[in-house]
Amino acid sequence: MGKDKLKRFEENKNFSCLFQPDFEEVFRKDYIMKGKWNSDYFGNDNPIVLELGCGRGEYAVELARKFPDTNFLGLDIKGARLWRGAKTAVEEGLKNVAFVRTRIEFIEWLFGSGEVSEIWITFADPQIRRDNKRLTAPVFLDRYRKFLKPNGLIHLKTDSPYLHEYSCALVRRNSFEILTENKDIYKSIAANEHFDTHTAELLSIKTHYEEQFLSQGHPITYLCFRLPSQGAIEPPVWDHDRYER
Ligand SMILES: C[S@@+](CC[C@H](N)C(=O)[O-])C[C@H]1O[C@@H](n2cnc3c(N)ncnc32)[C@H](O)[C@@H]1O
Repeated sequence: MGKDKLKRFEENKNFSCLFQPDFEEVFRKDYIMKGKWNSDYFGNDNPIVLELGCGRGEYAVELARKFPDTNFLGLDIKGARLWRGAKTAVEEGLKNVAFVRTRIEFIEWLFGSGEVSEIWITFADPQIRRDNKRLTAPVFLDRYRKFLKPNGLIHLKTDSPYLHEYSCALVRRNSFEILTENKDIYKSIAANEHFDTHTAELLSIKTHYEEQFLSQGHPITYLCFRLPSQGAIEPPVWDHDRYER
């Protein structure tokens, strides 16, 4: 392992805004913070918004800067990436953002019923042909609804037509309410069409991966829908071979 990574892992141990539960603390067992993120960490009753697979946490940090009355939690398995977000939060004294190093598969043991208001999924791996690993697959949506407020929002921002179209197909198949569906957000923003000011502000935040995909000329898509708390979630009728990535 590189020296930089080791240094970051050491520094991570001292960030009070970075939680790094051991496997035994979250595997089929309620994590000590479950249901207590506001009372025991943020110290207020503000809504909690998650960013899943947050990487360096650009979205969580920028949202925290823009919306001081909302609490943000970024989750990722990679400690060296989370270091960047945690370091920025500490340097800027941001009290409304924190990070958790964990596998998203364990998420239902981290949050209590109705504890979370919204979820952002930013540039997740499309997991082509691995349906049960895709972050918008029924298996994951069933996990999220255990702690998301009824009809809470799911935001999906991606460069992957596969992930976008799969998620849109799933949402339609289940008749979930769609708030926004867009195939090229920056084209729409430049043309001053489609988004209200608040949504345009939310969407203009760019992550590390997003910058890379944009420089390669990939359109960035966005889907925002409400996830009901009840009812079976059906997978979409889906042709894997129609999309390259
Ligand atoms: C393509 S990167 C995107 C990172 C960031 N959202 C961005 O846009 O720059 C995907 C991230 O998801 C994380 N990830 C993938 N699968 C995960 C899982 N099952 N649990 C936790 N993190 C995961 C990876 O570690 C990686 O940082």
